[in-house]
Amino acid sequence: MRKNIVAGNWKMNKNLQEGIALAKELNETLAADKPNCDVVICTPFIHLASVTPIVDKAVIGVGAENCADKVSGAYTGEVSAEMVASTGAEYVILGHSERRAYYHETVEILEEKVKLALANNLKPIFCIGEVLEEREANKQNEVVATQLASVFSLSAEDFSKIILAYEPVWAIGTGKTATAEQAQEIHAFIRSLIADKYGKEVAENTSILYGGSCKPSNAKELFANPDVDGGLIGGAALKVVDFKGIIDAFK
Ligand code: 13P
Repeated sequence: MRKNIVAGNWKMNKNLQEGIALAKELNETLAADKPNCDVVICTPFIHLASVTPIVDKAVIGVGAENCADKVSGAYTGEVSAEMVASTGAEYVILGHSERRAYYHETVEILEEKVKLALANNLKPIFCIGEVLEEREANKQNEVVATQLASVFSLSAEDFSKIILAYEPVWAIGTGKTATAEQAQEIHAFIRSLIADKYGKEVAENTSILYGGSCKPSNAKELFANPDVDGGLIGGAALKVVDFKGIIDAFK
């Protein structure tokens, strides 16, 4: 059966010392009170090598927020999937709406990134989701179907290693959350697309996380939906008390 997962996306927050302190505090908190779901923290690149040795791997997985679409070589400023994996990180967020919008990551670029992540045994947390105008025009299903199709070139075996995150762009950092009904409806639709492409078993085994202004006060209601398998958390992942509150939604 698919896993329930609460993953934090630190984005461009916390300097190295602050990041280490946050990871240590989370590790201690979860050692004292074991979670009922998988927990992942995705940190800026420079934190990875310092954070992976200080968390209990059995409780907290570590991931990057991005990786390069090239293997290696003259790509100044880029960080490859192999480099990410060499820090001990096990996950990588790909296709986040901020990367699509601000850094012009296309479906072709993302397809390459996903393939390189998988080739380096990283588990991609692949993000999809519509912007406000698309939701208002009732085009959300069309949008997520197109975004998802960019990873449908993968074999069923490779696709099975992917975690999906549905993040409506209008809900990210806005305090506006999708209702539990909206989340369930589109998560079920996403799962039906996977079933059409790869069959029911692969679809049933794919974890689909919700992201967008998820907090302790709404996590339980969101995660109670049959097709919502956890969350990808931004702002609330930066404070242990909030992140733990969301993790505890599975208790
Ligand atoms: P917020 O939880 O801050 O809305 O961010 C969600 C997100 O983008 C996680 O990737």
